[in-house]
Amino acid sequence: MSSPLFLCILLVVFGSYLSISAADDGNQGFVVVSTRSFRTQDVCSRSTALTPRPNPAGAAVPLVHRHGPCAKSQSTDKPSSFADALHRSRVRADYIMSRARAATMQEQELEEGKVSVPAYLGTSVDSQEYVVTLGLGTPAVEQVLLLDTGSDLSWVQCAPCNSSDCYRQKDPLFDPRKSSTYAPIPCGSDVCKTLQSDHFDNGCTMNGTQSQCGYQVEYGGGLKTRGVYSNEALTLAPGVVIEDFHFGCAYTQSGPNDKSDGLLGLGGAPESLPVQTSVVYGGSFSYCLPPVSSGTGFLALGAPSNDSGFSFTPMTPFMDYATFYLVKLTGISVGGKQLRIPRKVFEGGLIVDCGNIISHLPSTPYEKLQSAFRAAMAAYPLIPSDEGDTCYNFTGFSNVTVPKVALTFTGGVTVDLDVPNGLLLDGCLAFTESGPDDYVGFLGNVQMRTLEMLYDVKGARLGFRAAGC
Ligand SMILES: *[C@@H]1O[C@H](CO)[C@@H](O)[C@H](O)[C@H]1NC(C)=O
Ligand SMILES: *[C@@H]1O[C@H](CO)[C@@H](O)[C@H](O)[C@H]1NC(C)=O
Ligand SMILES: *[C@@H]1O[C@H](CO)[C@@H](O)[C@H](O)[C@H]1NC(C)=O
Ligand SMILES: *[C@@H]1O[C@H](CO)[C@@H](O)[C@H](O)[C@H]1NC(C)=O
Ligand SMILES: *[C@@H]1O[C@H](CO)[C@@H](O)[C@H](O)[C@H]1NC(C)=O
Repeated sequence: MSSPLFLCILLVVFGSYLSISAADDGNQGFVVVSTRSFRTQDVCSRSTALTPRPNPAGAAVPLVHRHGPCAKSQSTDKPSSFADALHRSRVRADYIMSRARAATMQEQELEEGKVSVPAYLGTSVDSQEYVVTLGLGTPAVEQVLLLDTGSDLSWVQCAPCNSSDCYRQKDPLFDPRKSSTYAPIPCGSDVCKTLQSDHFDNGCTMNGTQSQCGYQVEYGGGLKTRGVYSNEALTLAPGVVIEDFHFGCAYTQSGPNDKSDGLLGLGGAPESLPVQTSVVYGGSFSYCLPPVSSGTGFLALGAPSNDSGFSFTPMTPFMDYATFYLVKLTGISVGGKQLRIPRKVFEGGLIVDCGNIISHLPSTPYEKLQSAFRAAMAAYPLIPSDEGDTCYNFTGFSNVTVPKVALTFTGGVTVDLDVPNGLLLDGCLAFTESGPDDYVGFLGNVQMRTLEMLYDVKGARLGFRAAGC
């Protein structure tokens, strides 16, 4: 399938650790942060993210925030406010939940022959925040793709496409006619049949006398993309080429868009990049989201050969969706103190979703976290909010003492969130309520910042490693 590369990521762990159960350690549960660090930087800081991971296969690529100064085709949209991020996060969460509800309803109704399976499988693209630049075709053409663990099928806009069928993007459209390795996937092939059984298919399209496999994805925010499912060479880094990458060559888009060249699907279904390349990379991938939008992180395919420094918790699909990755939270600590939360309220689990900005917790854990955080931050004025947000006015403070927050997952894995970037977004506590207790929640991308997140899809476990980037 892909080039016979041995992925060998050697990890050099510089004193990184994951504490197992934070103790009540007084001031050690707090970190003093300079408020200067809250200001948005407009200069890209090429961090050393890739250097601590010597990677002979070179299958690690830089990852940046799409609104940040490191983005090659910086989005023209303004960086969002907290209220905006909260709104987009909720839209995405609601969409995923409505899909799940629709699916359970439809299973019954399907048996009664009442409805057909929905044709939409994407999540909301609007809350996507991180992009990678990859090379597509031969010669390789750079494409800036949104990273999405909440969907599977990857796509880029393809030429020829006029301004009514394709939205405007900064880079030139990918032109399959100029690539010597491009080939549409034939209708009769197993790959196309899988696409159909996974409900991505809108049928075969004809190109002259040749039939091509059509795909269609509709996302929560209303974006629809349609085109030809295709085979192409995908270059991750110089000399690191996935020769048979299946993706959608998009010829018709409608609805709101992100102005990126396309999307890279990292979900758990067969169409996603890690599942497609599992013969070579073992069905694992990891990424590290940088602490601030002016920083650089990475996306890597394959598991490190030495996973020392990682703590693993079991990971299962959410309901019957192979796409979504679910883990279970068992406890939360604030300022080094374990919150008293009955374990059963976490039963719904957390969907690990890099496309969601803010983390969503069921009612009881959310309220306990919020009140403990507010108590620990009582020295700073809260900004009144109708939404019940926890946003601070740090005007006049040169530094702020922020409590450490740690999340404990099944298996006793405790993960310290970065202070302040894993907790605060725009001066606000980056958590919201997902619903009643037992309800499913989301682990959002703010909480993932600086952690290396290793998705061992085949091994059904999720690894966390501190100080990943
Ligand atoms: C764009 O292309 C499509 C299909 O190729 C065509 O149907 C449509 O009329 C074109 N629109 C414009 C504005 O040229
Ligand atoms: C249609 O077929 C022609 C000739 O085989 C090929 O050059 C072209 O790239 C194909 N178009 C698409 C959209 O696949
Ligand atoms: C893995 O890395 C750790 C930390 O660098 C080191 O102590 C350990 O010996 C390594 N294990 C193997 C099998 O190389
Ligand atoms: C924040 O505090 C400063 C000074 O105390 C005040 O001037 C400003 O209006 C406050 N901003 C908000 C959003 O409450
Ligand atoms: C924090 O700021 C206060 C007052 O501005 C100052 O007295 C204190 O030394 C600062 N602490 C640190 C750790 O920078």
